[in-house]
Amino acid sequence: MMEQYAIKGGNPLVGEVEIGGAKNAALAILAASVMTDETVMIENMPDVRDTNVLLQAISSIGGIVERIDRHTVKINGSQIHDLVIDGDYIKKIRASYYLLGALLGKYKKAEVALPGGCNIGSRPIDQHLKGFRALGAEVNIAHGLIIAQADTLRGNHIYMDVVTVGATINVMMAAVMAEGMTIIENAAKEPHVVDLANFLNSMGANIKGAGTDVIRIRGVAKLHRTEYAIIPDQIEAGTFMFAAAVTKGDITVKNVIPKHLESISAKLLEIGCEIEESDDAVRVVASRKLRHTHVKTLPYPGFPTDMQPQIAVALGLSNGTSIVTESIFENRFKYVDELARMGGSVKVEGNTAIINGVERYTGASITAPDLRAGAALVLAGLAAEGFTTIDEIRYIERGYEDFPQKLKSLGAQIELVDTDKALQKFKLCAG
Ligand code: UD1
Repeated sequence: MMEQYAIKGGNPLVGEVEIGGAKNAALAILAASVMTDETVMIENMPDVRDTNVLLQAISSIGGIVERIDRHTVKINGSQIHDLVIDGDYIKKIRASYYLLGALLGKYKKAEVALPGGCNIGSRPIDQHLKGFRALGAEVNIAHGLIIAQADTLRGNHIYMDVVTVGATINVMMAAVMAEGMTIIENAAKEPHVVDLANFLNSMGANIKGAGTDVIRIRGVAKLHRTEYAIIPDQIEAGTFMFAAAVTKGDITVKNVIPKHLESISAKLLEIGCEIEESDDAVRVVASRKLRHTHVKTLPYPGFPTDMQPQIAVALGLSNGTSIVTESIFENRFKYVDELARMGGSVKVEGNTAIINGVERYTGASITAPDLRAGAALVLAGLAAEGFTTIDEIRYIERGYEDFPQKLKSLGAQIELVDTDKALQKFKLCAG
């Protein structure tokens, strides 16, 4: 039997939970760490599969990776001997393509396999390539590799056709040591874009405007050592906030930046939860039946697409009909069939889900279709009557550290099991 989560639903989740470092910021920052020959120390790194795979990719090209403790790592990029990232690494995680921007920026050459990652719709990289080319790189795709090289990189004015986190990050890294000024217009404003800019600036880069839609990067000759702590994970925090909503619980997410959670808090308020904010924590109390609402995913500061399945699971338990519009990725409703097995009533038309609230979900055997949808289905299982098993949890492990442990500490009945015997034992104990 493959590993799965066994869940007995019905307990309100109550208590405090520590949120870890942001996975998506970590991926950009770890890649950028190789851009100096000096040693960089990164703190608050989440210990999840995606970051660990990227660290392996960095080691595989000669980067020296020293794990100080579970959440602290030192990286030294002075011994990098290989500018080709091929094969397994990139297929496991999409963000290994950040090494393209990092290595191109530092060595003026990089070859990286075309990325895989979560199957949530077609994920073009045209804006990344356009940005590299605007800086003077020659970019070709051959034999499944993206090959980028330049004699010199020169700053340029780049207008992004769509707001893209990935291309903003990749182009920012490529431009940091280019000659002259690069201006990225229509840049993504996500907290992790700002975090990467702050990190690079702490290494001596000159980046202004990150967090607005115009980023100005004045090239510097080289980057130097730094120590840097990654921002808290907005999506992990949001997932626990919705865990409170669906289980009629009372959860305080700690070590967060409440400002980054505003679009999530606003929706929770709208559907009838109470929210209390302090400097670095947000408390969500759900004591009433949830109310229906409409939501559309948008680039930051809009409601994040990475929270779309979680809010849909909550709206599935509200009174009335809700409409969820997915405007970022085209194929992000794959959890709907799984939710239907639990009694959910969701109809998808194009990029819209029409959700009719039901009284309750009922436990079922389901499969995680991708990272965030997998986490959302765990929430459904925690809210459901009876037992749920979820397989393909390797998706969930890509982005959530100690997910079952953290949920358990809030009173959830959830266990990672990998044998029938363990599953039976869980069922007996959870009874
Ligand atoms: C990142 C996040 C992901 C999140 C997404 C949107 C990481 C590792 N992943 O993904 O969790 O769901 O942001 O917040 O940080 N696009 C193009 N051309 C391009 C690049 C993107 O058309 O060259 C389109 C995409 O198809 C999508 C939209 O732009 O429709 C946004 O994608 P993007 O912001 O780039 O997402 P990722 O960086 O892949």
